[in-house]
Amino acid sequence: MSDRESIEELILRLCATVPDYPKPGIVFRDLTPVFADGPALRAIVNALVEPFAGQFDAVAGIEARGFLLAAAAAYATGTGVVTVRKAGKLPRPVFTEKYELEYGESALELHQDDLQAGSRVLVLDDVLATGGTLAAASRLFAQAQVHIVGYGVVLELSELHGRSALPGHRVRSLLRLN
Ligand code: PRP
Ligand code: ADE
Repeated sequence: MSDRESIEELILRLCATVPDYPKPGIVFRDLTPVFADGPALRAIVNALVEPFAGQFDAVAGIEARGFLLAAAAAYATGTGVVTVRKAGKLPRPVFTEKYELEYGESALELHQDDLQAGSRVLVLDDVLATGGTLAAASRLFAQAQVHIVGYGVVLELSELHGRSALPGHRVRSLLRLN
């Protein structure tokens, strides 16, 4: 990232576009090249955290790419990190929420005792598409009585209207694409 390149331009330059993955008709936006670039990773993590600075006790990452962002953000801010995982991966008692994706359906889980009731969490993921994933995360944290201070995503696929699945929540996205 240079002084002349905006964060939108940086993400657009490094993001890979994969037609027909994981199913025919889906245009998959792969952000792993953004994460693989040191200055870009630092810039996106700082930009995701900045609007919520001082307002959260922990950062939650959504499996799988959200883990990378959440761990970096938690380390940068001196907060803890928690994992929101696909069903069947966590070893102790969990809350579970099913949801639908652009290309299928799934379920997310959160350990019941990873966060105390009343704590404040920033939830990070790589992409906001239909919003089904983050809406399921909202329901998980509601079960846990944890306050979501906001959501941060690197890329928002605007035409899928994911924001409307997250009413009443602050959503920070660094780049919007159709
Ligand atoms: C992708 C992405 C988001 C989710 C967004 O994950 O990383 O978590 O889809 O889609 P939505 O807004 O329509 O819910 P995916 O479920 O493909 O899982 P992965 O991270 O394990 O590849
Ligand atoms: N998650 C849901 N839809 C996606 C897409 N088109 N690209 C990347 N991640 C996604």
